[in-house]
Amino acid sequence: MQSSQKIRLPSVEFYITNVCNLACEGCNRFNNHRFRGFQTWKEYEPIYTKWAEQVQIPSIAILGGEPLLNPDFMSWLSGIRELWPYAKLTTVTNAYRLNQVSGLYHFLKQHQKNTYLQVGIHNKKNKKFVMNQVNNFLSGPTEVEFDNSDPYNEFMWIRDSNGVSIKVEYNWWFHQGSIIQDLETQRFSLHNSDVDRAHANCSMKTCYTFMHGKLYKCGVVAGQPKPGQMKIIKRDDLVQQIYAWLTFGELNIHGCSATPLAISLCWIQ
Ligand SMILES: C[S@@+](CC[C@H](N)C(=O)[O-])C[C@H]1O[C@@H](n2cnc3c(N)ncnc32)[C@H](O)[C@@H]1O
Ligand code: SF4
Repeated sequence: MQSSQKIRLPSVEFYITNVCNLACEGCNRFNNHRFRGFQTWKEYEPIYTKWAEQVQIPSIAILGGEPLLNPDFMSWLSGIRELWPYAKLTTVTNAYRLNQVSGLYHFLKQHQKNTYLQVGIHNKKNKKFVMNQVNNFLSGPTEVEFDNSDPYNEFMWIRDSNGVSIKVEYNWWFHQGSIIQDLETQRFSLHNSDVDRAHANCSMKTCYTFMHGKLYKCGVVAGQPKPGQMKIIKRDDLVQQIYAWLTFGELNIHGCSATPLAISLCWIQ
């Protein structure tokens, strides 16, 4: 299919593992609950090759869970890079394993024009450790550019002598997640809020997510532990709904009940 005929999704996330080494309170993709599992690139390459024939994506993020804990991470990175060669491609990571992933630095150096890392610091105590990981990973003198435009988070871009770039994001707060765990039964459910008001509140409503070869409206729908309260968008529905969205010029595919109506912020400790 010619690129002008493809459906354009402004940004999409690839969710490649539920595993994480941290358990941040309120993790928006539930990885603090220690759900397990990761996906290999080989298993999903054929389906993503088909997707690449249909959708154009200018901005892609690979995440999880902690993506660098997926033993097949480098295959995902190079596979996605090959299928969408012009996309801005970033990997969102907590950086704990940054210096253990063989080939990562070399790959970023080779693809420095449009391939980066985004490192999140979610814990005041670990700021020094994470910054050490970043500085050990980069090579030679670095240039740093600060961005203080967001009152709740601090950002800085660090670029090294080989052109490898890392965006460091220091989070001041997390909002509560969509999942509820019943303390007696230990069972999980999701909020069941007013569909329109909850969707208006949601900070993830434009985070289209690929998981297990399917495209979901967001990471909450994709990563929820059990299907139930929210409709999962199947591929054919999605194509229809994207056309509707393009026609009506709206960014939201439709409402969602999973976001709590009263959003509370939890300041990072
Ligand atoms: C779920 S994490 C996965 C990637 C990686 N483990 C990390 O922490 O950077 C993806 C992004 O979601 C953000 N995030 C997770 N839970 C959040 C919450 N409750 N509120 C705000 N941002 C959140 C993190 O800061 C991170 O940038
Ligand atoms: S925010 Fe990232 S580091 Fe923290 S629990 Fe979630 S996936 Fe892990």
